[in-house]
Amino acid sequence: MQEKFDFLIDDYILNKVGIDKNFLSATLSNGLSQNIVQLLANGQMSPARIGQNDDQHKATNIRSDMIYWMDKSHENVFEQEFLALMEDLILYLNKTCYAGINAYEFHYALYQEGAAYGRHKDRFRNDSDRQYSVVNYLNADWVEEDGGLLLLYKDEGTQMVLPMAQTTVFFKCDEMEHEVTVSKRSRMSITGWLKRSIVA
Ligand code: OGA
Ligand code: MN
Repeated sequence: MQEKFDFLIDDYILNKVGIDKNFLSATLSNGLSQNIVQLLANGQMSPARIGQNDDQHKATNIRSDMIYWMDKSHENVFEQEFLALMEDLILYLNKTCYAGINAYEFHYALYQEGAAYGRHKDRFRNDSDRQYSVVNYLNADWVEEDGGLLLLYKDEGTQMVLPMAQTTVFFKCDEMEHEVTVSKRSRMSITGWLKRSIVA
């Protein structure tokens, strides 16, 4: 596991964005995608909102994905395995980079045909808790023509990431502007944030 974490963190340090195309096992990635199919069928996926509290109505970003928040109390093997992996990543970041992470939040996300998320950063103006973004893709066989691309606006130019199964992307919330282009197919992911909270 340590090599996996090192790969992602080293890539982040070198390139401002860490990308590992094999971060999640095929079994975990597939299990999590099946969870989204089930959550949708159960009517548990709900429209995502932008910002928080008073900021919600002021949002200028277009965001049209559906989400469901993960929770350790959910009795699902894949969700448990995923959150345990994120806890291990946090321990490793705190140990090797003194990241001071003491909280996290993750949600399932589904971009149905036509859904997108306009250019934005992942930190709210009135909330500096979010430190690192971790996006995990769950889609088999994705091609550029399917849309739903992650665009990362780096100083050197725009980097594109296909939302392919097992791929994980790691970047700093207040640093990296990004967007999700209009998806032409159903696009599944797990997105979340590692946080430094005063009241953990
Ligand atoms: C987000 C986000 C990127 C993606 O949920 O904040 O930017 O590729 N997601 O799903
Ligand atoms: Mn984002």
